[in-house]
Amino acid sequence: MKKITFLAGLCFFSLNALFAQDLKSPDGELFLHFELSDSQTPTYTLSYKGQPVIKPSKLGFKLKPGIAFDRHFKVTDIRYDESDTTWEPVLGENSQIRDHHKEMLVKLVQDKTNWKLNIRFRLFDDGLGLRYEFPVQEELRQFVLEEERTEFCLNGDHKAFWLPGDYDTNEYPITTSKLSEVASLIDEVRKEGLAAKSPTPNLAVQTPLMMKSADGIYLNIHEAALDNYPAMALNLDDKQFVLSAHLTPDKNGDKGYIQTETVSPWRTLVLSDDARDILASNLILNLNEPCKIEDTSWIKPMKYVGVWWEYFTGGGSTWAYTDYHDIHIEKTDYSQLKPNGHHGANTQHVKEYIDFAAKHGFDAVLVEGWNEGWEDNWAYHKDHIYSFTKAYPDFDVKGLQQYAADKGVKIIMHHETTSSVIDYERQLHDAFRFMVDNGYNAVKTGYVGPIIPRSEYHDGQWMVNHYNYVAKTAADYKLMVNSHEAVRPTGMCRTYPNWIAQESARGTEFESFNGNRPDHTTILPFTRLMGGPMDYTPGIFEGDLSVYGSNQAKLSTTLVKQLALYVTMYSPLQMAADLIQNYEKYPDAFQFIKDVAADWDNSYILEAEPGDYITIARKAKGKNEWYIGGITDENAREAVIDLSFLPQGKKYQATIYTDGKHADWHTNPKSYVISTKKVTHKTILKQKLAPSGGVAISIKEI
Ligand code: NOJ
Ligand code: CA
Repeated sequence: MKKITFLAGLCFFSLNALFAQDLKSPDGELFLHFELSDSQTPTYTLSYKGQPVIKPSKLGFKLKPGIAFDRHFKVTDIRYDESDTTWEPVLGENSQIRDHHKEMLVKLVQDKTNWKLNIRFRLFDDGLGLRYEFPVQEELRQFVLEEERTEFCLNGDHKAFWLPGDYDTNEYPITTSKLSEVASLIDEVRKEGLAAKSPTPNLAVQTPLMMKSADGIYLNIHEAALDNYPAMALNLDDKQFVLSAHLTPDKNGDKGYIQTETVSPWRTLVLSDDARDILASNLILNLNEPCKIEDTSWIKPMKYVGVWWEYFTGGGSTWAYTDYHDIHIEKTDYSQLKPNGHHGANTQHVKEYIDFAAKHGFDAVLVEGWNEGWEDNWAYHKDHIYSFTKAYPDFDVKGLQQYAADKGVKIIMHHETTSSVIDYERQLHDAFRFMVDNGYNAVKTGYVGPIIPRSEYHDGQWMVNHYNYVAKTAADYKLMVNSHEAVRPTGMCRTYPNWIAQESARGTEFESFNGNRPDHTTILPFTRLMGGPMDYTPGIFEGDLSVYGSNQAKLSTTLVKQLALYVTMYSPLQMAADLIQNYEKYPDAFQFIKDVAADWDNSYILEAEPGDYITIARKAKGKNEWYIGGITDENAREAVIDLSFLPQGKKYQATIYTDGKHADWHTNPKSYVISTKKVTHKTILKQKLAPSGGVAISIKEI
């Protein structure tokens, strides 16, 4: 461990007009230049291997009402630091993470107002983090943000993998286009969003934003450690190719309430000329605070099945117990109401899932629709709210607790709030106490629909604080959290590792609506997963939903690609999402899902190109077992899988799950072949992947 702090020996009084300072990454490839411009606006530029990647870009704020806090600064101090440490995440893609960075802290004061602002830059070998610090000061105690002025001035019309700016949802398909084409496509893309939608008024895109320049530089812009601050989208100037911060407002237009002695989230830029480095980057985790939970022994990776997919297949199962839509749960005695006869979360059915989980070695069973209040769940009237402590009459809480415990299986609690957030906070402690009392250790939360109170958006400061509050409070009860429809993650799982996964993007559920595209999962690790694990819920074997009745949807992948997703979509929480009957039909393919780990010692990004393909190998934590997943977009390809990551001098048995010869996601998705092969660290496997197909491999020492 190395930590060096030193002060630049500078004469500040003479330098302020043309003040300029530089910082290099530890390997010297990244070069940051800080300067006060003519109007004394803080600006930075960044170059990589001698090429400019970020042209002079401004920093600062506009405060309410219309006060410029981005100019007329002078530098009062500048400090440099270097740090090289290694830390161990509780759960992760690697059991050890190195944090080696150089740092420059610039302290500024604004003329006339005397207001102070600090900007901290950190350069890692794989990118930049920068953030604002609002030091405690007499003249400025608190303020309202009108806008953050952070810019990223790009050096060209990059190819981008983007979601339209939206304060409420990230469940859009990912569009690939030049930045200059976003404007002509954005209205069409917006039509494909479901749930609550609140498009930004400006031409804006969401982060994590993945881009590739014409000369092959991969750039990813996102943020780290989002707390007590709104999430950031990026305004797009598609003539100059300038991206600038667009904070999520509340509905009064206020973007954030700041008290001094606080900091902004980090603005992050991960970059490389090799796409694999983007996936291997730990920059965002490194910029988050260390774990704040002392005893983490109860935080475990989990593989689960659940009473879930049946709600999406069109087979008739319902979350609600009755067919009434005009009941008010505060006054309703459900035991007096007629059940609709196809309530999914009934005790008998849940027991079938517990039996199945126990038989096949799954840790847990998710049960949605167990609690009172689902009758109105698609209407969002919100005059009718859920109870998180009252079960429907046909869900036997105590009986199931005992049944699951006897079989060594956990039940995952579900709290769909339909975004009645005040009400959820009102019930939170009772709900968590209820969970502890009844043997639950994990909860899936949900924020479908517009937020109550209605002056808030999903990505605003108030909601950011809500999600963080839920994760922190859950930790007090030793509960793990998997949040759906929450703001996209920013690496907070380092600080609160009980926040085991999030959805926050278009997951498998969309395969049952209007579908995900074949390239979707080749992009998500470069976008959504930059901030943390995703509860994508793979594992659908029966992809033709017409077999269940009314739903005509078809899965956008082959069966083998579904297996590969357990490796390519990192999450310590992994669902086998399909119905029991479909796993029973394909027990040999199901074996991979049973075997695959969810927590890792090491990850090796073998091949990657956003939008085209990804091949990743990972070593299971504490075991001499390796799992490999390779996926492709709509184009067939050959994956070249170099096993040199295996320890030398030993022999291994590989079980290889490949697409059948004529497999194709559209016409023949369920064709697969399983073979075994002896391999060593010298082996290079060449595997054919069908259109939207995959390859999955498990390797064990002989
Ligand atoms: C949307 C979630 O993403 C999904 O997993 C859940 O089943 C429904 N909301 C209902 O809560
Ligand atoms: Ca969702």
